[in-house]
Amino acid sequence: MCKNKIKAAVVGGGFIGKQHIEAIRRIPNAEVVAIVETTIERAKTIAEQYHIPNYYDNEDELFALEGIDVIHVCTPNFLHYEMAKKALEHDMNVFCEKPLSLSAEQSQALVDIASMSTGLHAVNLNYRSNVMVREMREQVINKKIGNLLLVQASYIQDWLMYDTDYDWHFVPDMVGASRAVADIGSHAFDLIQFISGQKITDVFADLIKVYPKRKESKEERETFSEVVSDNYEEVAVQNEDAAFIIAKLEDGTKVSITISQVTGGHKNDIEVCMSGSKQSITWKQEHADRLYIGKRNRGNELLYADAKYVSDKAKRFIALPNGHAVGWADAFKNSIQEFYLAIEDKDNKELDYVDFYKGHYLMKLIEACIESNKTQTWIHVK
Ligand SMILES: NC(=O)c1ccc[n+]([C@@H]2O[C@H](COP(=O)([O-])OP(=O)(O)OC[C@H]3O[C@@H](n4cnc5c(N)ncnc54)[C@H](O)[C@@H]3O)[C@@H](O)[C@H]2O)c1
Repeated sequence: MCKNKIKAAVVGGGFIGKQHIEAIRRIPNAEVVAIVETTIERAKTIAEQYHIPNYYDNEDELFALEGIDVIHVCTPNFLHYEMAKKALEHDMNVFCEKPLSLSAEQSQALVDIASMSTGLHAVNLNYRSNVMVREMREQVINKKIGNLLLVQASYIQDWLMYDTDYDWHFVPDMVGASRAVADIGSHAFDLIQFISGQKITDVFADLIKVYPKRKESKEERETFSEVVSDNYEEVAVQNEDAAFIIAKLEDGTKVSITISQVTGGHKNDIEVCMSGSKQSITWKQEHADRLYIGKRNRGNELLYADAKYVSDKAKRFIALPNGHAVGWADAFKNSIQEFYLAIEDKDNKELDYVDFYKGHYLMKLIEACIESNKTQTWIHVK
């Protein structure tokens, strides 16, 4: 049992790294003690802004710093493997952004290292820690919706809709062989598997590139930020903007998944609908504080987030009563807190987060989609 405050170091202070800092600060027994960025100036700016006592331009400095309990890897994908590997080799706990690595070969190596390390490991698939997603899982697993008949999921965004949208997500050496499927499809895969309590075992994928070329601006861009520039260079696009995927769960249930980063007006629109033999149940991220229960012979229900209305297992993921709408930042904080609870109490079997073994399985699903698109066949994943 760890009695002291959990001391965290955040590596990468871009879009998501800042969300990690804010989320860690909402956890009562935790503090951010170090930030690492590409240059000492960038690290210092973030350290001053957030009052973080230590800042570095090299993650190796963290291993010399006394008392760090957990390293958060919030850098672009190509650095996840090396940073997570180093942390585990130092028997440190590591909380890594998704996707776990650039390839299943790398994630296999990470699980091999993890099996020899005393450090705990997690991948940040944050949506599963929304209270209504937890509630949906309880209702599906306990067959409140009846037998599961079908699953439909989509994750659609518009932040890469124009051909002038270009950043490191288009560079295969930095992002991996897949973009849209790895970046947001991984969240959809995790939600489907978590809520249904089953693995996705087979996929058939059509990966779609809407622009053969894009215009790369020479200005620096943080993820989701708008860059206005007339200093562009044309670059051939090598990874997918969207995907249509059909899949099967372990019990044969059929699944459809739509992924897009080019659909105007849809900002962070992830939705999962599970059809059961008694009723359907749907969660939409952009209305994250409720579940839609669909009935055939009666009026439909909206179930709002409130400890009074959800099952015991979901209750601990809610901090405020109904009307104080639960949102993205709450699930994000819960995702980190679930891992921190495991650091404090390694024997607690109630805790449910995505460890590197599960993160590796997601990498295999991503690669199966690439393979399926290439061969136009179903790919079975073990
Ligand atoms: N869980 C989620 O919902 C979610 C959402 C967005 C991004 N992400 C993941 O977070 C990761 C980062 O994405 P982002 O959107 O924050 O990107 P970003 O480009 O906004 O930020 C990345 C940051 O990492 C820094 N960096 C690069 N190399 C570094 C190094 N060697 N040492 C320290 N810092 C370094 C960059 O300077 C930059 O500030 C990606 O893997 C992405 O998939 C997850």
